[in-house]
Amino acid sequence: MEDKRRKWLKSHHDTLFPFFPFLKKRNIGWLFDSVKEKAPEKGALYVHIPFCTGRCTFCILTKERPSGNTLKYVNLILEEAKTWREYYSPVETIYIGGGTPTSLSTEELKLLFEGLGEIFEIEKNAEISIETTVSELTEDKINLLADLGVNRLSVGVQTFNPGLRNVLGRRSGVKEVIKKLNTAREVFPLLTIDILYDLPGQHKRDVLADLQMAVGIGIDGISLYPLIYSPKTAIARQFEQPAIETAKAVFANARNFLDNNGYKHVNINHFSNGRDKFRYSTYFNRLDNVLGLGAGATGFLAGCFLKHKSTSEKYIRSRAGDVFNVPEATIPVLWCISQLQYGRIDLEEPKRRWGFEPLEAFTATIEKCVDRGEMIISKKTIELTTEGMFWANTIGAEMAVEYLYDGKGGLVSLEEGSSKIAKGIMLNKIRHGRKALKGTHK
Ligand SMILES: C[S@@+](CC[C@H](N)C(=O)[O-])C[C@H]1O[C@@H](n2cnc3c(N)ncnc32)[C@H](O)[C@@H]1O
Ligand code: SF4
Repeated sequence: MEDKRRKWLKSHHDTLFPFFPFLKKRNIGWLFDSVKEKAPEKGALYVHIPFCTGRCTFCILTKERPSGNTLKYVNLILEEAKTWREYYSPVETIYIGGGTPTSLSTEELKLLFEGLGEIFEIEKNAEISIETTVSELTEDKINLLADLGVNRLSVGVQTFNPGLRNVLGRRSGVKEVIKKLNTAREVFPLLTIDILYDLPGQHKRDVLADLQMAVGIGIDGISLYPLIYSPKTAIARQFEQPAIETAKAVFANARNFLDNNGYKHVNINHFSNGRDKFRYSTYFNRLDNVLGLGAGATGFLAGCFLKHKSTSEKYIRSRAGDVFNVPEATIPVLWCISQLQYGRIDLEEPKRRWGFEPLEAFTATIEKCVDRGEMIISKKTIELTTEGMFWANTIGAEMAVEYLYDGKGGLVSLEEGSSKIAKGIMLNKIRHGRKALKGTHK
């Protein structure tokens, strides 16, 4: 039986919430000292370009209107990159996200790509992705990006449905979207798009029509996200979130349709025709090195999250991000939960690396998930079913709460205003909490 109060967490960031009270705040000097001790390590690079002139009704990204400081911003990103060059090599994949990164001018984009190429040793076959939106995608920009080495273009389509595009506040018409995707298809080895489901008034057949269109154009990777109804967005103030049963049926249908059309479900929100490896996402999920640069960017280095200031103005004032060290005792828990993004936890690796037994650490959550048909346990792995993939972020948070708080903490979406209160409650639980984790929090 489904627990009616069970919270559907739509973002993998929400699975991190139970860890927050355990993180130890450090300064940037401490992080540099830790990486200095090691030989240079390979990794991924994330660059956040917050600028965007769009006014989408649903957008929860860190974004702002460009205000004359874009060139300065790009130069400062390169300055920050230089401080990491000796510790970080080679770069195996680069992801430029936003906002809308292609809202930078031709000169700024050239400066950014050429600058990164001079600062870091970038692997010959590195996956180089950039996010864009159709209204910014001129033929000149398409050619420029290809010349600058982008080999994976990620276009935020959201939906091909004209009525729903209006609801979302998207600027381009459907014909333009299809035309630009076809042009991009000719130029980039890998073309991926974002599609949203759980939209107000959206039917199962609307999502299937969107996916059908994507398959027809020959898109390599499809990110299928459920809409997050954040109180700070216009869409959430105007519409109720559809019933969860509807969303579940849409998700199962979409997965089935894509499977029948040769697309594998490679992580909770991503489907690939086999060509798109989405290497960047695998770094975060394996807890490998991700260096984040720019306002709002978060990276993971030397067991620490490195989180930057949220606006370009603040970033220009101070580029040093905040450093949050993940205590060693919680690393195996974080690792297991990150694996759920792929729908599978290997049982042998955490045992070998940390002497950590997922079946013992998360017994109660696993039993419930197996009963509900969300998990299948075999000798070597825990596998999520389609139902389990739908709930994967929730399951991850449930596991973390079971291990870190003896199951007594609540699940929290970071988009909710109440997250600060919940953090206080969790901190309190730690003060009176488990012996095993004492000493991990100061
Ligand atoms: C930075 S945006 C993509 C690039 C570009 N700015 C655009 O909108 O086309 C990254 C993606 O985040 C997703 N996104 C934004 N707001 C969201 C929300 N409220 N819920 C779920 N996904 C969201 C969208 O699918 C969007 O394509
Ligand atoms: S174009 Fe993208 S970044 Fe800009 S407001 Fe719309 S969803 Fe947000």
